[in-house]
Amino acid sequence: MIKVEIVVTLEQAQEVRLIRNECRMFMTGSTDVISREQQREFFDRRIATGEVNALLIREEPYVVAYGLLFPDEEHSDRGWLSAGVIGSSRGYGYGRAIIESITQMGLDRFGKVMGEARADNSASIRTCSRVGYRVTNYYTKNGVPMVLLETP
Ligand SMILES: CC(C)(COP(=O)(O)OP(=O)(O)OC[C@H]1O[C@@H](n2cnc3c(N)ncnc32)[C@H](O)[C@@H]1OP(=O)(O)O)[C@@H](O)C(=O)NCCC(=O)NCCS
Repeated sequence: MIKVEIVVTLEQAQEVRLIRNECRMFMTGSTDVISREQQREFFDRRIATGEVNALLIREEPYVVAYGLLFPDEEHSDRGWLSAGVIGSSRGYGYGRAIIESITQMGLDRFGKVMGEARADNSASIRTCSRVGYRVTNYYTKNGVPMVLLETP
């Protein structure tokens, strides 16, 4: 059974950073490498305060997947997800498991969860669809085609 951990320590947050950096080319916002120091600041300001929720999946000795839940900046009734699985562990159900867990947290906390994916990221769109998201919009961001994913 896949076990999901809640990130409560800086050490776990640094493990999340490594996967996020590996997945950075799939991200729809910043694709910059996140440094240890930046992640420490993100942990102190946003995760430790409970503003952002973070989850991970560990398959000893590695951390293989992470999920993040952010509050929407304007609407208190929705959150945004971000997730990733290390390249060598894709296709084994970790993505679905972490996205299911982070989505359930988001539904409990906000009532609605949204996601943004590059339109050519079929793995992400497929995984989110399997969890119950629907594509509700197509648009471009900095010239890159995107889709908006929303829980019903
Ligand atoms: C998107 C991602 C999280 C999926 O994780 P994963 O562990 O490989 O996915 P799973 O094994 O749980 O598969 C979930 C579903 O997606 C499908 N899928 C996985 N990879 C796929 C691919 N490359 N193309 C099409 N479908 C794919 C699986 O077949 C499965 O669907 P099924 O249940 O109908 O068979 C992973 O590919 C990833 O980390 N990508 C880079 C980061 C990223 O895109 N993040 C955004 C996520 S919101």
